[in-house]
Amino acid sequence: MTPGASAALLASLAPATTAVRMSLHVLAAAVWVGGQITVAGLLGTVRGFGEGGPRAVGRAFGRLEWPAYAVLIATGVWNVVASRPSTQGGAWNAVLGVKIAVALAAGVAAWLHQRSRTRAGLAAYGALTGVASVAALVLGVVLAG
Ligand code: HEM
Repeated sequence: MTPGASAALLASLAPATTAVRMSLHVLAAAVWVGGQITVAGLLGTVRGFGEGGPRAVGRAFGRLEWPAYAVLIATGVWNVVASRPSTQGGAWNAVLGVKIAVALAAGVAAWLHQRSRTRAGLAAYGALTGVASVAALVLGVVLAG
């Protein structure tokens, strides 16, 4: 490969920092969103393990979920800085605003879900967490273009 061709190849690859930033953000999103879907799918089976099964699995999931959320917030802020919103259009900034609102709503709903002592509260806040998390994911893909 000629030096020119390898330089062109390297230039076409995402800088290493972008690769690290976006990979951490997407990995954390996979744990936060994918984890919720997986636990929801396993809930029927977990209920068969006895009265305390769902709460024990929920607590174990929480130990994975909250560090993932912290990584999402940290890499999210890094994404915003790297994307330089002042150079982006009005629509991009509007989508970013909505995305940050739903990402924060997802965190608050998950915290309220975790503290719920009624089945209705668990179900309502759990559903809100799921919907807000998937919305943040879709808006992220829209932002990334
Ligand atoms: C529930 C929380 C969140 C989820 C599930 C999530 C998910 C995602 C996903 C899947 C992408 C697209 C990656 C790609 O297509 O390569 C993305 C991009 C992005 N996210 Fe998030 N995210 C979350 C929270 C946040 C927060 C809190 C912020 C800002 C403070 C943020 C800022 C961004 C930005 C600016 C991009 C575009 C990055 C670029 O194109 O360079 N995200 N997000």
